[in-house]
Amino acid sequence: MSESLLRHLEDAPAAIAVQRGPELRYELANRLYGRLLGGAELMGRALAEVLPDWAQLRRILEAVQRDGHPFIGREHRFLVDRLGDGELRDAYFDVICQPLREGDAIVGVLTFAVDVTTQVEARQRMESVAAELQRAVEARDEFLSVASHELKTPLTALRLQVQSLQRSVHRAPEAQYSAEQLRAKFDAADRQVNRLVELIDALLDVSRVQAGHMDVNLEEIDLAAVVTEVVERGRTPAAATGSILKLDAATPVVGRWDRSRVDQVITNLVSNAIKYGGGKPIDVRVYVESFSDGDNQGRRAAASVTDHGIGIAPADQARIFERFERAVSRTSYAGLGLGLWISRQIAETLGGTIIVESAPGAGARFTLFLPL
Ligand SMILES: Nc1ncnc2c1ncn2[C@@H]1O[C@H](COP(=O)(O)OP(=O)(O)OP(=O)(O)O)[C@@H](O)[C@H]1O
Ligand SMILES: [Mg+2]
Repeated sequence: MSESLLRHLEDAPAAIAVQRGPELRYELANRLYGRLLGGAELMGRALAEVLPDWAQLRRILEAVQRDGHPFIGREHRFLVDRLGDGELRDAYFDVICQPLREGDAIVGVLTFAVDVTTQVEARQRMESVAAELQRAVEARDEFLSVASHELKTPLTALRLQVQSLQRSVHRAPEAQYSAEQLRAKFDAADRQVNRLVELIDALLDVSRVQAGHMDVNLEEIDLAAVVTEVVERGRTPAAATGSILKLDAATPVVGRWDRSRVDQVITNLVSNAIKYGGGKPIDVRVYVESFSDGDNQGRRAAASVTDHGIGIAPADQARIFERFERAVSRTSYAGLGLGLWISRQIAETLGGTIIVESAPGAGARFTLFLPL
């Protein structure tokens, strides 16, 4: 081979090697090839000295030598020292190992490989973004049908109440509703209106948070008092499912937070525990804990809500904090899939966070942490 051709091969942006003889000794290995194999001197050495018998490349070369069929791999994965820092990493190559023949005999193998790792990784990233988008679109479609259904339910009930009131007005006075009956009808209508207001508030929250317009009113409040209030409000709906709310919040935990937002978070957590808690007892606790993460050490306020219900599979535990994401079927449990998303947005706006610990069938514990 001419000097200048060799020099071009040496500097080529592809890994190139020629090996000859029964032991496949290196007769040529350019710079990139040598670096990928760890940078040791290769010339004149046998394949078996350079690569252990489990190495993929060695198996491929031996098969080409034995069978005489070229090996052509597209985006083939190899474990190599791709960055030249001594560390083995997965990398992708378009690779050809071509048998070299003299007459019928196979006398060696030529290897030519182009590193396509950057392209493959970029494509993998694109694919995962596309899958993510696809899932988000599906979640939104699901949300739209759930939301219309959720809005329709109280609206239908409300319409029935109003129609029956209307009919009553048109009847003869003695056939009209009594004051007692009227009160019951109006109470029922009021409950439906409240449910509608709640749903619309949740939807408004989403657009506000999305636009970065969550209003927070920082003031000195006692987390234990807020949680106690929420638990008191939750006793009736809890009893309806058979759950008892147990509260451990005897000591005040005071900090500068937003009262109504904290109330909203705890309300979401408690109502989830009631909804998904399978009628078993629910424990609510307020406490202060020391923590350390990395360089940060300190104390923070915590409120935890623990149920013993259906629990959440590990694969769903991150997802349920996203918008519209639910881990239950909408036929079994009504809901918009917004409660946890809003709650975490609020927690983070206040400088805190929410975590979940759970196992399927064993219940779930959600903990709100707030900075002191
Ligand atoms: N305590 C819990 N136990 C088991 N699963 C839970 C619990 N809390 C939440 N989940 C799961 O997380 C999902 C998301 O909860 P999130 O509160 O955001 O929405 P939701 O309860 O479905 O609807 P809503 O927006 O009305 O609160 C739920 O659909 C459910 O699958
Ligand atoms: Mg909820």
